Amino acid sequence: MSKKTQEIWSYAPAPESSKVVQIKEKYDLYIDGKFVKPSSGKYFKSINPADESEICSIAYGNEKDVDLAVKAARKAYDTVWSKLSAADRGKYIFRIARMMQERSRELAVAESIDSGKTIREARDIDIPLACNHFFYYAGWADKLDEAFPGRKPKSLGVVGQIIPWNFPLLMAAWKIAPALATGNTVVIKPAETTSLTMMILADIIHEAGLPAGVFNVVSGYGDTGASIVNHPDINKIAFTGSTAVGKIIQKAIAGTDKKLTLELGGKSANIIFDDAPIDQAVEGIINGIFFNQGHVCCAGSRLFVQENVAEKVIEKLKHRMASLLVGDPLDKNTDIGAINSKEQFDTIQQYLKIGVNEGSEIYQSPCNLPKKGYYMAPTLFLDVAQSNTIAQEEIFGPVLAIQTFRTIDEVIQKANNTPFGLAAGVWTDKGSRIFNVSSQLRAGVVWANTYNKFDPASPFGGYKESGFGREGGLHGLIPYLKFD
Ligand code: NAI
Ligand code: MG
Repeated sequence: MSKKTQEIWSYAPAPESSKVVQIKEKYDLYIDGKFVKPSSGKYFKSINPADESEICSIAYGNEKDVDLAVKAARKAYDTVWSKLSAADRGKYIFRIARMMQERSRELAVAESIDSGKTIREARDIDIPLACNHFFYYAGWADKLDEAFPGRKPKSLGVVGQIIPWNFPLLMAAWKIAPALATGNTVVIKPAETTSLTMMILADIIHEAGLPAGVFNVVSGYGDTGASIVNHPDINKIAFTGSTAVGKIIQKAIAGTDKKLTLELGGKSANIIFDDAPIDQAVEGIINGIFFNQGHVCCAGSRLFVQENVAEKVIEKLKHRMASLLVGDPLDKNTDIGAINSKEQFDTIQQYLKIGVNEGSEIYQSPCNLPKKGYYMAPTLFLDVAQSNTIAQEEIFGPVLAIQTFRTIDEVIQKANNTPFGLAAGVWTDKGSRIFNVSSQLRAGVVWANTYNKFDPASPFGGYKESGFGREGGLHGLIPYLKFD
């Protein structure tokens, strides 16, 4: 589709109303069941990446605030939460899930405004999945003995959790729900560019009447996160974010008895065999790399296409890319919203330069980008070598590196030739090939003839530099428990 055709066949605007969320001017910390000012008195701005406007101010928590939060969480653990019956614990979590559902429209709009993700994805994926995680783990709360027969699972105590900015509420749900269900208390930090839905969640949890101190939010930057990691009275750290910070955290807690789970970056392979249903595969490639602006740890950012169908796949892919609507995240028609922050936008542009300089051919679909805000056209790289930076490093944006292959052994080798191991996709008509390839891929999740499918009952996590520990499913209970 040319730019002109796109203009002729453009959609009328279909904006979601932002009135469903009353964004406050300022958000405080949530410690010991109360909204409290940060001890430094400092706040930072949260920006709407769609138009670069300031949305609100968020409390900047420091070491002292973290200490207050950990003390509150310890007291709540010792005096209330660990004494409560498992069934009653479950009831609180069910209540949180239902209240999140009741406020789902508000949460979706807030998430879209704060993060730049499209309302369609926030409304249909992030928020429902976040609610489902609470429902799912609420159900486990009183069945832990059945989950681990004969092993007498016990809670750990106080857990510290650090959240990234790509799926703010969903990642919070992945962490909070299993922690509470297993009987732990929580000190959590949202990412600095996307604190808003965590602040609304704190309000929901407060209204749900969770005993004071069971759940605490200390918002802030990396140093706030480091204060959580380094606090001596925390029993476990759960982190999702960059591999670089994951390594810092692992070093910081080495020699302590803190438990750790790390869910880090990825450079996942999406593999298309010549017998795959090509049109579905093209949809899968699009979903794999352009979902959430490519800010997805398991994004299918390396595409491997069997050589004899490569030309056809790339042609169809370019055609499909031209129909992707890039723009206002709050418009219900938008497919690709805004890049989360100026920093991330600059990082991605840097990678585009590197890709070109290292000799790959760049293709960007024609589209009209809004003048204000951090937008970019969906991007492909062709002529990519295995050693190229754009085939090795996580770009975390709507940028796909395409390579071809001839044989199964070759593509398995290429797919595994990465420091990461989070996810992969395999597209083929042949069931036996799916089992053969997926069992040889060193990746935590392998999707067959689909991509980016998530469910609370299904464990998720990585190999190698993508981290360790599993979130979701029965496996997701284990990191929050100790066994006799
Ligand atoms: P980051 O890893 O710095 O941020 C993630 C979270 O960690 C934020 O809440 C941040 O405040 C916190 N944090 C930062 N430094 C910390 C420290 N020393 N101790 C404890 N917590 C700390 O990620 P950033 O800088 O926002 O993004 C950089 C790159 O990381 C991205 O381009 C992307 O490649 C990758 N990334 C991957 C994610 C994933 O889900 N795999 C999520 C976010 C970023
Ligand atoms: Mg923001």
